[in-house]
Amino acid sequence: MLFASFLQDPNFIRVCYIVAFALFVIGLGGLTGPRTAVRGNRIAALGMAIAIVATLLTKGMGNWGLIVLGIVIGTAIGVPAARSVKMTAMPQMVALFNGVGGGAIALIAWAEFRSSGGFDFTPTYIAIFSLFSAIVGSVSFWGSNIAFAKLQELISGSPVKLPGQQVINIALLAIAVGCSVAIVAGQTNEWVFILILVAAALLGNFLVLPIGGADMPVVISLLNAFTGLSAAAAGISLDNTALIVAGMIVGASGTILTNLMATAMNRSILSIVAGGFGGGGVLPAASSDGVVRTARSTSASDAAVQMAYANSVMIVPGYGMAVAQAQHAVRELTRELEKRGVEVNFAIHPVAGRMPGHMNVLLAEADVPYDQLKEMEQANPLFSRTDVSLIIGANDVTNPAANDDPSSPIYGMPILEVDRSNSVIVLKRSMSSGFAGIDNPLFYADNTAMLFGDAKASVQEITTELTEL
Ligand code: TAP
Repeated sequence: MLFASFLQDPNFIRVCYIVAFALFVIGLGGLTGPRTAVRGNRIAALGMAIAIVATLLTKGMGNWGLIVLGIVIGTAIGVPAARSVKMTAMPQMVALFNGVGGGAIALIAWAEFRSSGGFDFTPTYIAIFSLFSAIVGSVSFWGSNIAFAKLQELISGSPVKLPGQQVINIALLAIAVGCSVAIVAGQTNEWVFILILVAAALLGNFLVLPIGGADMPVVISLLNAFTGLSAAAAGISLDNTALIVAGMIVGASGTILTNLMATAMNRSILSIVAGGFGGGGVLPAASSDGVVRTARSTSASDAAVQMAYANSVMIVPGYGMAVAQAQHAVRELTRELEKRGVEVNFAIHPVAGRMPGHMNVLLAEADVPYDQLKEMEQANPLFSRTDVSLIIGANDVTNPAANDDPSSPIYGMPILEVDRSNSVIVLKRSMSSGFAGIDNPLFYADNTAMLFGDAKASVQEITTELTEL
């Protein structure tokens, strides 16, 4: 009995929360590097488990049957889904889990409204935070569902826009805010609250539908930040410190990540949300200046000879390596080159692929040593001393137009300066463009040779040729 009342003591619960917050921060610190990421994740998960148990210990928790049922359903869906998800499907998984968080926050606000018979006797600032969490949580839930459906190819990844979309969006926001003002002013009709949720739901759908599938990782990170902010607002209205701190951490880290991605792509968050870039699939490459240029093609055996006699090879992976699942074949190739005394490094662009850390994750899966992975800032000074740069399914992140052509849509985007190396071999299937839908002058340079084909098959062929040299 004494022990039970000790566990329910608000001071004990506060101490548990403080321990949980410390673990969140330590865990987040761990996520900043591939070596410590798994440990960081486990530490943060332990913090979350402590926060959940502490919350459940709180006096007057409510219906235990429903709580246990929720935990059982959540575990039965979440654990197998997280275990079986493929690395390439991770962005949509994050979208789905994040969306559910936003939806839960919106439902909590609704439940609060119902249980207090409107916010009539609720302090104004509590009502405002509650309504904010309902709107933002609902936008996040519905927007994340669309992001999931696009990435899972349940609906088309191309931008979908209604005529007058901006006006419709502004009208929906005005309805949600107007109804919120009415509720704060004393309106207790539940239908007004439901109207807020419906307007926010439509807004969430309409905000994400016009965005191309390939921009989704940035949008998911933005929606992640939204969910964090709505959780923090719900924490204020429920007077729950754990929710405030966890929500602010998610909100802040989601905002920082969105910003980093947008900066690395040299695009404003606004232009991504406005949609229409890189969403229309792969366009055939065409020279914008009307000059017909020819690219030189090479064979696997020539590529093997060139690399076998090089002192240094820089591998530049991109989205195509992920599509081809070529990472293990690439690891084999590096082993073969290293046997011959060739120094091999990997140049990693921050937005190579389609999600943050995409290349790092794939290469870690194939056991490529971390010290061979060079971030863009480390890699760029090395290119002028590199004999062969081997580009594996990368395109935009190597496009010199980002440095040289002010009319290019990616002008100003930091790139891997592959064009400075002595020679360049590009593995891709055709002359098609990448995500940005633009031509890459690197492919026509005198020191560049194209090896056409699926990246995995090409890498395997080169390795075979190397072993036979
Ligand atoms: P991309 O510019 O998209 O180019 C990928 C290339 O891979 C394509 O040109 C394609 O050419 C080739 N490819 C596809 N499948 C292949 C296969 N099976 N075998 C061989 N090659 C294959 O990729 P990137 O250089 O990694 O740049 C990433 C782009 O995505 C950037 O523009 C970035 O801004 C954008 N983006 C990134 C993120 C994050 S967070 N990473 C998020 C959103 C957008 P073929 O069709 O000719 O084979």
